[in-house]
Amino acid sequence: MTTMTSAVTLPPGPTAPRAVQGAYALTQPLRGMRRLKARYGSAFTVNVPIFGNAVVLSDPAEIKQLFTSGPDLVDNLEVNLGRVLGPHSMFALSGDEHKRQRKLLVPPFHGKRLAAYEKIVEEETLREFATWPEGTAFATLPSMMRITLNAILRAVFGAEGAEFAELRELLPPFVTLGSRLAVAPIPKKGRFNPWRRFERMRREYDAIVDRLIAKADPDGDDVLAMLLQTRYDDGSGLGRDEICDQLLTLLTAGHETTATTLAWAVERLRRHPALLAELRTDDDKLLDATILEVQRTRPVIDLTARQVKQDGFRLGRWTLPRGYNVLVSIALIHDDDAVFPHAATFDPHRFAGARPDLYQWIPFGGGTRRCLGAAFATMEMAVVLRTLLRQFTLVPTTEPGERRHSRGVAYAPAKGGRAVVRRRSTGGDA
Ligand code: HEM
Repeated sequence: MTTMTSAVTLPPGPTAPRAVQGAYALTQPLRGMRRLKARYGSAFTVNVPIFGNAVVLSDPAEIKQLFTSGPDLVDNLEVNLGRVLGPHSMFALSGDEHKRQRKLLVPPFHGKRLAAYEKIVEEETLREFATWPEGTAFATLPSMMRITLNAILRAVFGAEGAEFAELRELLPPFVTLGSRLAVAPIPKKGRFNPWRRFERMRREYDAIVDRLIAKADPDGDDVLAMLLQTRYDDGSGLGRDEICDQLLTLLTAGHETTATTLAWAVERLRRHPALLAELRTDDDKLLDATILEVQRTRPVIDLTARQVKQDGFRLGRWTLPRGYNVLVSIALIHDDDAVFPHAATFDPHRFAGARPDLYQWIPFGGGTRRCLGAAFATMEMAVVLRTLLRQFTLVPTTEPGERRHSRGVAYAPAKGGRAVVRRRSTGGDA
């Protein structure tokens, strides 16, 4: 089947001006998407700030076709991330350059490598859990943010000692400012311009990474050590600027996303006491299925984007012009009863013993740009939750579910995934 033809056929959609659609998208993101789907069907066209004219997809066959189309047909939609993460960031690259970098970055995140990081995650989890209060409600998100930050600093940056302490201070405000600058059209001029602060922090960051590169153990297990050893097909290695940009990208992509998913896991579990009781038996399969179901029902990234690279790209029922943007609504496909029967019900058993279809269960996106840290994040979430269930009794609640709150990179539970815990007497601090 050819995917190229000349006549454009776009799905229907609202005709309100961009500012009006944008205000709606900002204030009512998920409800807005659900309404548009109810009115126009599984694909519709929107006109919103940042993404401009874009087709939103939620049909499984069309999503699969998009994810499996080569970069000559659809590729990265760069939404200013190169300005903040650097020009070598995975998020700024497309075509062959993206493929080349991905080939080097994938191996450190796979298979046996992950086992070496489990211990780091467990240590960071135990360190944080030692501070949890008993019997009073508290938000778990700040703890989850510290665990995932520290785990990335140690496992990915290979940071210990002074560099670890300095990066822990510098990176959270640096990434927050960077994500604001990525979406706000602020020119780089003027004395009190936030870009100045951002560039000062970037220089500090680069200087710390330089020290880490100088100290790196060539036989080390951390991702930085492996990136320093790795070679392109022509024998050349990654340059210092490439390494700085990629490490910052890995942190930005992997820190808040994993922490917010963990906070949602706490939020969901407390509202499902029967599941909590079943999980106490230390059943890894059910725990893995629970993580899949948390990510299905509370995806922390709700859209992933591509741009059409050739005129007349035929995508399912539609023919799109070159330059048009395509957004995959992760939230809408996860919500669809035809794809996940009784989709509104939180039921991890739907995944027990079955791997999800990776073009339908898509919290990590899909295809050649699927999340590079998916296996790392899955390992990390399993270690944190297993440790939590081993150390604490999580007290159930009948309070209504927490609402979604946008933190810039990811959607978090609005009250931070509040928990009440009791320490188990046999938990141990091993
Ligand atoms: C629960 C946690 C996470 C979620 C929900 C998540 C989600 C995503 C999504 C939706 C994408 C875009 C995929 C697409 O466009 O098809 C992505 C890309 C990416 N993620 Fe994650 N992510 C998580 C954790 C991580 C971690 C821990 C790392 C690394 C340490 C990471 C590194 C990346 C990178 C480098 C990309 C860009 C891949 C590329 O462009 O080729 N992510 N992630």
